[in-house]
Amino acid sequence: MRTLTGITPSGTLHIGNYFGAMRPAIEAQASGDCFYFIANYHSMTSVTDAAERRKNTLGIALDWLACGLDPKVSVFWRQSDVPEVTELTWLIGSLTPMGLLERAHSYKDKTAKGISPNFGLFAYPVLMAADILLYDTHRVPVGKDQKQHLEMTRDIAIKFNEAYGENTLVVPEPVIGEEIAIIPGLDGQKMSKSYGNTIEIFGEEKALRKKIMGIVMDSRTPAEPKPDADRNLAIQLLRLVAPKDVALDFESRLRAGGLGYGDLKKALFEHYWDYFSAARARRAELVANLDHVEAVLRDGAQRARAVASVVLRRARLASGIE
Ligand code: ADP
Ligand code: TRP
Repeated sequence: MRTLTGITPSGTLHIGNYFGAMRPAIEAQASGDCFYFIANYHSMTSVTDAAERRKNTLGIALDWLACGLDPKVSVFWRQSDVPEVTELTWLIGSLTPMGLLERAHSYKDKTAKGISPNFGLFAYPVLMAADILLYDTHRVPVGKDQKQHLEMTRDIAIKFNEAYGENTLVVPEPVIGEEIAIIPGLDGQKMSKSYGNTIEIFGEEKALRKKIMGIVMDSRTPAEPKPDADRNLAIQLLRLVAPKDVALDFESRLRAGGLGYGDLKKALFEHYWDYFSAARARRAELVANLDHVEAVLRDGAQRARAVASVVLRRARLASGIE
């Protein structure tokens, strides 16, 4: 059972990304055969600055390795280091109906916003399908927003197999993280970089303390009992980063009355800072040793390529290119 997912190199990661996507992916490593890659070709439709792309790509590699992606257990690479993916994009793209791509939400949303579409934006789902199909993937864990892309991938694989032979491409199953709780941001809405309400995983201490101490609460006095303590934003976040009994203790003190919001937020900051302190130290080590990071990605690409070349050959032979 191979699990594969792509990580778009866009901006600074926050704890919503961590608890919603990274931690499950890192935990999945225990069952083996995980393929994770940095989707730098995909970033070309949104980022057009070369230095920014390099910086974002390296940043994602550092963040994931620091948070526990183990490149000895999983295969971790940069998408563009396995250029076979672009050839498979052509093979499957030649069977992909325009109508299917015209119905893609990502394309429709961008054109509705007045962004003038280019080939890359239109073909994005085909490249994503190639990412998945190139590695005989069985399971693809993604957020809800990617569900349609997974359905397209399945349609494309089935079409290819109908044309060129039943067992040419593995038809993958999506694993949509419906049951994963949505982590709230500093303002109580879903934490998202587009809402500017994030707590970064690797932020600067002073700025992060200020952000957390700045969470707006209601105007009840500290002494007042708070029967709704379980819905308090700081309590919800504390549950993620503090040991269970500590979070429960703060919750019952808040419920009983006598705990001030300032003390609660201070505890939240401290537990958050501690929770990521090992990852922070690992990241600093990696930053001091960028050659090692580059070597890790190259080694991952070699292992990914060993699989990709077999699957691409199968597709080339089946379709009469070879
Ligand atoms: P953002 O909303 O900040 O742009 P992305 O859309 O890039 O985040 O999400 C990357 C991954 O992180 C996805 O798998 C998504 O489901 C997950 N994720 C993002 N925000 C949250 C959140 N607030 N709670 C849980 N998971 C999240
Ligand atoms: N499009 C995905 C996103 O924006 C990233 C991605 C690219 C991906 N290729 C993939 C995810 C293949 C899963 C499988 O999040």
